[in-house]
Amino acid sequence: QSIMMNLKYVSTLVLIVLALSTMIATAKNNELTPMSIKLALTQDVTQMRITWNTRAHGSSPLVLYDTQPFNTSNFVRLPQLEANTEHIYQALGGGWNEYVNTALLTGLTASTTYYYSVGEKDELFFSDVFNFTTAATDFNADVTPFSIVVYGDMGIWGGSQQNIQRITERVDDFSFAFHLGDIAYADLTSGSKDLGNETVWNEFLDMVNPITSHIPYMVCPGNHDIFLVDFDIYRHTFQMPCPVSDAWYSFDYNGIHFLSYSTEHLVTDLSPQHNWIENDLKNYRKKNPDGWVVVIGHRPFYCSTVWDYCNKDTYKGMSMIDSLEHVFYMYNVDLYITGHAHAYERTLPMLKGKAEYGTYDAPRATVHMVIGTGGNQEGPDGGWDEPAPAWSVGERLLDTGYGIFDFTNSTHLHYSFVNATTNEVRDEFWLTKGNW
Ligand SMILES: *[C@@H]1O[C@H](CO)[C@@H](O)[C@H](O)[C@H]1NC(C)=O
Ligand SMILES: *[C@@H]1O[C@H](CO)[C@@H](O)[C@H](O)[C@H]1NC(C)=O
Ligand SMILES: *[C@@H]1O[C@H](CO)[C@@H](O)[C@H](O)[C@H]1NC(C)=O
Ligand SMILES: *[C@@H]1O[C@H](CO)[C@@H](O)[C@H](O)[C@H]1NC(C)=O
Ligand SMILES: *[C@@H]1O[C@H](CO)[C@@H](O)[C@H](O)[C@H]1NC(C)=O
Ligand SMILES: [Fe+2]
Repeated sequence: QSIMMNLKYVSTLVLIVLALSTMIATAKNNELTPMSIKLALTQDVTQMRITWNTRAHGSSPLVLYDTQPFNTSNFVRLPQLEANTEHIYQALGGGWNEYVNTALLTGLTASTTYYYSVGEKDELFFSDVFNFTTAATDFNADVTPFSIVVYGDMGIWGGSQQNIQRITERVDDFSFAFHLGDIAYADLTSGSKDLGNETVWNEFLDMVNPITSHIPYMVCPGNHDIFLVDFDIYRHTFQMPCPVSDAWYSFDYNGIHFLSYSTEHLVTDLSPQHNWIENDLKNYRKKNPDGWVVVIGHRPFYCSTVWDYCNKDTYKGMSMIDSLEHVFYMYNVDLYITGHAHAYERTLPMLKGKAEYGTYDAPRATVHMVIGTGGNQEGPDGGWDEPAPAWSVGERLLDTGYGIFDFTNSTHLHYSFVNATTNEVRDEFWLTKGNW
């Protein structure tokens, strides 16, 4: 009798322990589920940065990768790379909860598809297998054709969902994405202006995960990414190719030079960012006088929307156009691409407000584009100045949609703007390389 009682007691205990350990394991797995899996380019085309968020600090964050598709249950036989984990958000005192895991893949082969999964070695817990393809060429090589998708001002409400879906449907067409600032609008819910809203930020990262896990997601900061001290959430989340304390960087991709800067930091003469931009362009031009140079930033110099967010717009009283336009001109910057105005517009080659520098056929000054059409909750701009200024050419649109740059060769690039509802190309043009 008493043995029976004991057995019953022991087996109940065993069941409870089993149930508890399953619950703990599941809880731990939930805490370590990789979220926001993202790729980012570095300055070295043989590298790829992979980041992901977890709710807890794992003991063994890890990337598995190979040039063949694989099953993560065979992980022992696969190349593995340990990741670093930081609990940056809480350390900042903002009460954010995520951990950011970062791994830098190095020594990758050009023009090659890699398969990868992220997870926890100790827990035998891995994500789905994703893939990305590396760039074709090294610095200064000829242009190898490629396309990128570009938009700004997105967030989680408004038309952004539809826009993201359209981009996702054809994500294989693009080598990387450029988000031109105003990323999640995580500063707009009540009380979140300074600390940001973690729920909104994470929901945005979830929405773009099909893009960010497959092609590098390159960003610049916008005025809605400014929260929590000095954009710390923005910087630690996206891990762009610069020291994490900076918000400006450049890189070369298939023979094109890209420079992304922060319109939310000082750009006045002698400011650290101004010096950096000038040096970067000067050094690039010494090595490559004829190469395409594309500058990315959040705030435009020129637009003709009724909400005037352009050349009269200032950051801390400084005028970006006064600080930078002559620098772009001096170093033959071909394109300056921005968001901020919730509209789509492009200019003739411009300098000092004048369109006297030729056409898109070998222009003699920088061409400006606004693609603030991500579909954010603030809605499109109120309309257009009428009549359109002579420098505003092509369609002026208030659509939600995205831009595609096809870098064809050393003399030609093609651009198109796609409406995310109808999938129609609403504006397009060819630009030939201007050397002035
Ligand atoms: C991976 O291998 C395991 C064990 O052989 C198997 O159960 C699972 O279905 C495989 N997964 C995939 C996605 O093929
Ligand atoms: C790579 O991933 C993309 C997007 O998830 C998918 O469409 C594509 O089929 C994958 N490519 C290969 C070769 O597995
Ligand atoms: C953050 O955003 C979510 C989703 O909109 C909302 O439910 C929550 O109240 C917001 N939190 C704060 C502090 O604003
Ligand atoms: C897409 O284009 C159509 C016209 O072609 C326009 O009526 C509509 O407003 C656009 N949609 C969006 C979301 O901008
Ligand atoms: C560059 O591409 C354009 C457009 O396809 C083509 O007309 C031109 O011949 C090409 N130039 C070179 C040098 O290949
Ligand atoms: Fe903005």
